[in-house]
Amino acid sequence: MMRQALSAGGGGALEDTVSLTAIGEPRRKITVATLREKKLLHQPITCLTAYDYSSARLVDEAAIDIVLVGDSLAQTMLGYENTLSITMDEMLHHARAVRRGVKDALLVVDMPYGSYHVGADEAVRNAAKFVKESGVEVVKLEGGEKRAELIRRIIDAEIPVAGHIGLTPQSVNVMSGYKVQGKSLNGIEQLMRDAIALDQAGVAFIVLEGIPREVAAMITAEVETPTIGIGAGPECDGQVLVFHDIMNLNFNGPAKFVRRYGNAAALITHAVQEFRADVISRQYPSDSESYHLPKETRAALETVMERKRAMRR
Ligand code: KIV
Repeated sequence: MMRQALSAGGGGALEDTVSLTAIGEPRRKITVATLREKKLLHQPITCLTAYDYSSARLVDEAAIDIVLVGDSLAQTMLGYENTLSITMDEMLHHARAVRRGVKDALLVVDMPYGSYHVGADEAVRNAAKFVKESGVEVVKLEGGEKRAELIRRIIDAEIPVAGHIGLTPQSVNVMSGYKVQGKSLNGIEQLMRDAIALDQAGVAFIVLEGIPREVAAMITAEVETPTIGIGAGPECDGQVLVFHDIMNLNFNGPAKFVRRYGNAAALITHAVQEFRADVISRQYPSDSESYHLPKETRAALETVMERKRAMRR
């Protein structure tokens, strides 16, 4: 499939365009039902975060099942220290951009800290705001057993919800840091209760973050809901990673579970340094990268300039 260059300047087609569709066959739209189907058929589910139009488009065209506008964008895109400060407006702004880039993947957004903690009415209102104003299909919120009632309320409002348990970054201050959860017997029992509560509430999928592989495997076998792991081992029904982590665009050292699939930082730094060097050495822009006057205008301009020079003499 040939496609136009993603040039902001509205340039022509890339000369060496490549197929960006990984599988090469027409994709069907991924829905919540597709995820259940995949679990039943033991087909792994793929999920990546995206925070803007261009990366969302690339991720979608690579046939990833779920695109998540994660609140990790607080750190990756906006430079905040953690996910606690990001607002509804900021999440909405990015969700709208991602919506414009996603065609087939299931589009999920994180409800930011504070948007579902005060009361059920406000949580439903905020979830509906995401659906109405950004076109996302699923909202994700953190917490298990203690959120089950609230999740039912949001689902009652016809909005699919995804759960997120284990290491839940919005609880960083309560957890006293980003720590692997479910390492003790009590911790395992709590995680199991959380997963079962979310399963019974009818969530679309459950993100299992930062928990031992053995615990994630037990949960995955126990619940009918698809589990999507991040730092939770290979037995989950699917895997999610942060776009900036797999592309080496994260300025912090990678976590144990991160695998880098590209080095965008090196690519960008090299390109920027080359541009700088070309400008300084006047090698950019070249004549062929410049606009020119039409022949007649150039001739007319020459005549005018010549007349001016003659008058000055
Ligand atoms: O915000 C995020 O990126 C997430 C993923 C890590 C699951 O919630």
